[in-house]
Amino acid sequence: MRCGYFDDEHREYVITDPRTPVKWINYIGALSFGGFVDHTGGALICRGDPSYNRITRYVAQMPAGDFRGETLYLRLRLDGDYRVYCPFFTPARQPLERFECHIGLGYTRIVSEFAGLRCAVTIFVPLGEERELRDLRVTNLSSHPQTVDVVPVVEYSHFDALKQFTNADWVPQTMQSRLWESSDGVRLLLQYPFMNRDRQVNYFTASLPFSSFESDRRAFLGDNEYGSWTDPLALHHAELACGQANRGDNIAALLIPLGVLAPGQTRRVITQLGQVASAAEALRGVRSYSDPAAVDGAFASLAEHWSAILAALQVRTPDAEMDRMLNIHNPRQCVITRTWSRYLSLYQLGYGGDRGIGFRDSAQDTLGVMASQPDDARELLAALLAYQRPDGAAMHQFNPATGQASMGDARERPDHPQYYSDDHLWAVLAAAAYVKETGDRAFLDRMIPFYAPDAGAQRKETASVLDHLRRALAFTAGDTGSHGLPLLGFADWNDTVNLAAGAESLFTACLYGKALLEMADLLTFLGDSGEAQQYRSAHAAMRRRFNAAGWDGEWYLAYFDHDGSPLGSRRNSRGQIYLNSQTWAVIAGFAPPRRARLALDAAFRRLNTAFGLKLSAPGYDGYDPAVGGITTYPPGAKENGGVFLHTNPWAIIAETMLGNGERAYRYYRQINPAARNEQIEVYECEPYAYPQNILGDEHPNHGLARNTWLTGTAAWSYHAATQYILGVRPEFAGLRVDPCIPPGWAGFSLQRRFRGALYSIEVDNSAGVGRGVVDLLLDGRRLEGSLLPPQEPGSEHRVQVRLGKTGAE
Ligand code: GLC
Repeated sequence: MRCGYFDDEHREYVITDPRTPVKWINYIGALSFGGFVDHTGGALICRGDPSYNRITRYVAQMPAGDFRGETLYLRLRLDGDYRVYCPFFTPARQPLERFECHIGLGYTRIVSEFAGLRCAVTIFVPLGEERELRDLRVTNLSSHPQTVDVVPVVEYSHFDALKQFTNADWVPQTMQSRLWESSDGVRLLLQYPFMNRDRQVNYFTASLPFSSFESDRRAFLGDNEYGSWTDPLALHHAELACGQANRGDNIAALLIPLGVLAPGQTRRVITQLGQVASAAEALRGVRSYSDPAAVDGAFASLAEHWSAILAALQVRTPDAEMDRMLNIHNPRQCVITRTWSRYLSLYQLGYGGDRGIGFRDSAQDTLGVMASQPDDARELLAALLAYQRPDGAAMHQFNPATGQASMGDARERPDHPQYYSDDHLWAVLAAAAYVKETGDRAFLDRMIPFYAPDAGAQRKETASVLDHLRRALAFTAGDTGSHGLPLLGFADWNDTVNLAAGAESLFTACLYGKALLEMADLLTFLGDSGEAQQYRSAHAAMRRRFNAAGWDGEWYLAYFDHDGSPLGSRRNSRGQIYLNSQTWAVIAGFAPPRRARLALDAAFRRLNTAFGLKLSAPGYDGYDPAVGGITTYPPGAKENGGVFLHTNPWAIIAETMLGNGERAYRYYRQINPAARNEQIEVYECEPYAYPQNILGDEHPNHGLARNTWLTGTAAWSYHAATQYILGVRPEFAGLRVDPCIPPGWAGFSLQRRFRGALYSIEVDNSAGVGRGVVDLLLDGRRLEGSLLPPQEPGSEHRVQVRLGKTGAE
């Protein structure tokens, strides 16, 4: 079963059945103003801060058929009677003759047909603007004139998203709505909690006049709310009651008469939802976006913006589903994770003052946009580094609007360590990736304060980016346990293994190892071979300890508990093998060749499923506070033996490092959501965005995906596929071209922007080897090795690569 199809030409996915197994969403706007729109037009919109400045009331847990945040009614006038339709299918759920929800780049367009009408609504936030536009076009498809009204509706949330649900006394007493009219007749329906009346108001309006309105939910639904969203009783009167709510549950419903539409005639109306300091302040923008030409212009700019992002890399491989992900949907998801971190989705609800941006998550997210948006990646990294503590460890998360930071879930176990052992180390990988992509060394000298909220402005310690990285490595160097391996802290990347103080993490050892290699290479690039050498020695020392203590016979252990007993060992009855210590032992350069192959083969044998690699196996069967959060899940779910997709690209990278292109590609293909389009009855989630997890084979619902969009899977899948399978990888000295593809592929081609130049690369694998560059031609000139030196910004180059048997085999 499927719910839609990919339209690559228009860079869209088109949902054709509104009854998707779960809600499917798309993002509009940015953190400054925006949120997500679901496939039946419901929307969660915020300005600046999902916790403290929420605009629409969208309750993610409500059933898919219910009203959520925003909707649209369309009403036919039939001699004194009214027939009410829901062009978005919900909330009335009448059958529609046609339904299409186009998931576009930064917009969603819902097209439906019913009762001899076509309704097409494009929903987006113009670039850099703080307003949601809904561009409605209603066409009379019938052969007789039809009299049509449209009634767009918004339901407001109190700005404090959590208080909306936790305080049912104060909130409804404060919520108010007023009609406001300018001297020249522009009318806005305003809404605000009373204390914000004079400084921050929401508004809703339309480009055509509305003849009446309602702002009180109770009056709109009617009959003391025994009327319902399915068929609001107010829509059975000629006009709405123009109620200006003095309290209660506030909505904005506008009755906009489109008049009589002749057969074939289309009328267009644009609604605007926004927030401003005062109604007068809104006027200019409201006027300009009431002009359809301005809306068309804004929509065209949005398309250009996305074209520029996608132009960083376009590929053509023998796998159409890989192409559509790498060319359209995966880069889009990378931009979304860069923007929203883990803040706001159907799963991350954006409640609570310090949720905001996750240090480790966002540090990894930068990898996904390094080629397309290096400046944004750099600024995000700089923002993160300001939440690194003077001791080198980092705060786990922070609210970018308030600056409030916290240690996340670590707070919930006061008897456990209060830091994560990995957070700060990801910054080293991100900084190195930024310099490799851009060549911009100056960033490393930028001065950034450490996070010390109690220190007072003058005493705040400030250091260069490079010093921040040194400090990160120094923290882990000095924070080791009885085997000389890094202490686990509250957790490592795997949030859910929470062992008592004194436990050690083999994953963190590897991440530290990889960070040491990156730092050594970076310092070599900067010309400091002495310091680089110190980091290489630290790497060698950790490598020795890791191999001395960490090998279990066929694979690497995952943790040592506080008492020295191992987790991730064949001696354990549950959690015998963890994926991350196998893949990262290779990525970190810790595993000697034989162990590397054994470890990755063990992962394949013990952890692979048709839906991807499981994070660990077998699953823990019962809650055990001594092991932690992982045991709260049933076997096969999430970190407890589920397919946790974020870790799969690490297996892809590790396999390419050992030269196994066949298996690397298999791992890629297994988790490609686009390849699940025909299996939606099992998979359930959007086929155009990676999910965070899929239930593993110990779970009865094996294959069911959840937690789409805001996941590190986006950045790492993109990184692994483009830089390791296709093998086009920025290094400090230039662009490496070193593919590791299935031997059966004839080849592939791609276009890559790198440091301002454009490279058109063709890879010929007619020898059927899949890897090993034997010929590299830059504009017809043969180069030694596989590295393209940086070229003049603005220049364009043709690169021909031939794979074949190399002497190294
Ligand atoms: C979630 C968290 C991420 C963590 C992962 C594994 O995706 O956002 O920080 O690494 O779970 O526990």
